[in-house]
Amino acid sequence: MKIILPSEKSIPVEPGVSVFQALKKEGVHLTSSCGGKGTCGKCKIIVKSGPVDTRSTTKLTKGEIKKGAVLACQSFPRGDIQIEIPKESELIVEGKIATGKSKDLQELLHSTGAKREPLTRRIVLQLPPPSLNDNISDLERLKREFVTKGLGCLRVPFRFLINLAGIVRKKDWEITLSTINAGDCCEITNISPGNRTSARYGIAIDIGTTTVVAYLIDLNDGTLVDIASTYNSQIQFGDDVITRIIYVEEHNALKSLHRTIIVDINDLISLLRKTHTINIDSIDSLVTAGNPTMTHIFLGLDPASIRQEPYIPTANSFPVSHAGELGIKTNPNTPVYTFPCVSSYVGGDIVSGVLASRLHKSQDLCLFMDVGTNGEIVLGNSEWLVTAACSAGPCFEGSGIRHGMRATEGAIEDVRINRKTLEPEIEIIGEGVKPLGICGSGMIDAVAEMFITGILDQKGKLQKSASDRIRDGDNGPEFVVYSGDNRDIVLTEPDIENIIRAKAAIYAGLSMLLKEMGYTFADVHRMFIAGGFGKFLDVEKAVILGMLPDIPKKKFTYLGNTSIIGAYLCTLSQNLREEAEEIAGKMTYIELSVSRSFMDEYVSGLFIPHTNIDAFPGVKKLLKK
Ligand code: FES
Repeated sequence: MKIILPSEKSIPVEPGVSVFQALKKEGVHLTSSCGGKGTCGKCKIIVKSGPVDTRSTTKLTKGEIKKGAVLACQSFPRGDIQIEIPKESELIVEGKIATGKSKDLQELLHSTGAKREPLTRRIVLQLPPPSLNDNISDLERLKREFVTKGLGCLRVPFRFLINLAGIVRKKDWEITLSTINAGDCCEITNISPGNRTSARYGIAIDIGTTTVVAYLIDLNDGTLVDIASTYNSQIQFGDDVITRIIYVEEHNALKSLHRTIIVDINDLISLLRKTHTINIDSIDSLVTAGNPTMTHIFLGLDPASIRQEPYIPTANSFPVSHAGELGIKTNPNTPVYTFPCVSSYVGGDIVSGVLASRLHKSQDLCLFMDVGTNGEIVLGNSEWLVTAACSAGPCFEGSGIRHGMRATEGAIEDVRINRKTLEPEIEIIGEGVKPLGICGSGMIDAVAEMFITGILDQKGKLQKSASDRIRDGDNGPEFVVYSGDNRDIVLTEPDIENIIRAKAAIYAGLSMLLKEMGYTFADVHRMFIAGGFGKFLDVEKAVILGMLPDIPKKKFTYLGNTSIIGAYLCTLSQNLREEAEEIAGKMTYIELSVSRSFMDEYVSGLFIPHTNIDAFPGVKKLLKK
């Protein structure tokens, strides 16, 4: 049996294997935020011809089903089938980096004053050929040349002896070594014939609970070459880290979850390599950042004790591992640096975020918040750092929102509602592209604008009489943000409830952490906002929504996904890897969510902007106009 694509490419499929799995096996990746459980509706394909058994069509509208749409993860061919993959279902690399993004990152690296020093070095050696007078072995010859060049001592693991004789002779005794710092010595991580210094890349990976992002970085000049991202397929085992730990315990499933994240990472690496025609040996190092549970599962470590009192992880700082040990498909010797964690609750993603924001170097009081699946906050300065978590949920990353998507090409990232016509005006990521969905910044804009224009009330209920764009959908009233020829993009009332719950948790976390440390929002000198919202986050709209405090706008800095930015920095600098270890050692975790006052604050935030409107004087003024 085969699946035929519009390009005429045919993909073999075994009986009982879903279209989703068959496509994935052949490197055709579809987007998915439920890991193939049939609950997210993001893997939609169109069956043009051929017999298919479909197990579930929930998440598809009647109109879509009429046009032949099925969920690829719930569809099992019974013979040859011909399909089409709509653009919104394709998992693609970004291809084109936002203008200035690579330059900004290089400038950030430069501004830290850190030396550019990736995890591995490439060293070209011209060995003197042996003779009867110079008859030491190949290994001794290699070590001798290394010392002669003033490079120090060289450790050569046994596995490199196997092919050493052939490699040194292949290009007239010219070789390229990749080495890693191993205390007092350098240790070989790769050895190739000839000069192989022109193409060398590092991959920085942010392992989020909901999304996984990979940066392909040119190690020779620090350029960000490309970005690839996907949803974390572990979502099939649970939306949050606790559910996943329970799944690991109850099903003895550590290996399954480990394999799942490794497959996601391998998919991203393979997409990036394919797009840029990169040889496997040109990938020199990997740097990963994730929360403690994601980090443990990624490394194959049992996360069970993270959830059990007294909440002790296997490790908070991790020795450099190798790609081969983890199942990552690069050269098996490629070193993998994993960001240190702080405790069972605060991980490498937050350490990475603080590193990227430079909060730990500030003389003044700063607040950092990272809105991912969990939502973490850090308060402090160059002297001290405290951190807390607030369960924001993954809605701003597109999960649990009908037309939600990651902040990639085709996402509506900016929404304004015309005050006279009440018609939405949208901006989309990418040039000349049709909208495929709505990302975090678009959601914040849309809900704030709908509130200001009276389309939405303070409780988040759509006001049918206020706009013709409100209609009855499968899940109750919905607002049509974009009306397309084939597909509308809507925000449903349950979507809006999700957004309000998330923003309430964030605001409650921010205000409670300040209170706990004896400060108020007025004491904050700068506030850094991180998360995969989109290219820009309209702070004013986030204040109207009641997600951010009503303080002067100039105090806010939106940084985007800082977990991956920190991973970028550490891919390129040993100094910054050391700084990351220092930050992790300095941070103290404060438990907020169990306190009664956190719950009270959260409940007060379930209104737009807040039940206490006096805490939002700017919004109050706006509403009076
Ligand atoms: Fe198919 Fe989520 S519905 S991957």
